[in-house]
Amino acid sequence: MTKNFLLLAGTAVLVAGCAAPLPVGERPKIAASDLDQLVAVSKRDFKARGIAGMDRLELDAAMRACNLHNDNPPREVSQPLEEQILKSIPFPQGSLLGDWKRGQRLAQSGQGMTWSDKPNIANGGSCYNCHQLSPQEESFGTLGTSLRNFGKIRGTSEAIQRYTYGKIYNSKAYNLCSQMPRMGHSKTLNEQQIKDLTAYLLDPNSPVNK
Ligand code: HEC
Repeated sequence: MTKNFLLLAGTAVLVAGCAAPLPVGERPKIAASDLDQLVAVSKRDFKARGIAGMDRLELDAAMRACNLHNDNPPREVSQPLEEQILKSIPFPQGSLLGDWKRGQRLAQSGQGMTWSDKPNIANGGSCYNCHQLSPQEESFGTLGTSLRNFGKIRGTSEAIQRYTYGKIYNSKAYNLCSQMPRMGHSKTLNEQQIKDLTAYLLDPNSPVNK
């Protein structure tokens, strides 16, 4: 009897674990003290390994605000943080369009950032893990919006180049709780690589715009 009950209870937990997540507005909010405790427990239980250091557990102001507001902070919280992040992006002088062919290879590569990777290996951008980009690519993730014809639709003006470069450098400057990795801010990609990706998205000859 007791054994059966335990088995049933176990199943219930499993089923609850598999349930679809609640929509953003309906999730219970986490209290600041509980968030601090969660971070403390993570820091206690996780160990640095290879290139994956404990710094990955640090919550910066943006992540903290998003955690406390279920990824949907009020405008008075998100706006000043987004402005601050935008100001911190080191936009290079001159053209932001690099080589789209190199950008394509970066967009397709998911290499890097795992604990077993050697330090200083060239990281990829993993863009296809979340975005549709060129028609040739049959397999892509859909967490991010489709970027098919991104340059054809948006054009290549200075403002669009700047937005594209900035979005790749630090997506949170434009959408505080964006799920997109902050490629430049996290030093995953360097200035030239971000320019190459900007060209891949905007260049009229890039397959993205064909
Ligand atoms: C983990 C998933 C993920 C990865 C990996 C990712 N993105 Fe995103 N990206 C998103 C999401 C989600 C959005 C939409 C929400 C937002 O605006 O932040 C987005 C938005 C964008 C936008 C803005 C689109 C618009 O219509 O204004 C651009 C540009 C972009 N991503 C480029 C890239 C590039 C280039 C890469 C590879 C270096 C990349 N993304 C990698 C998730 C991702």
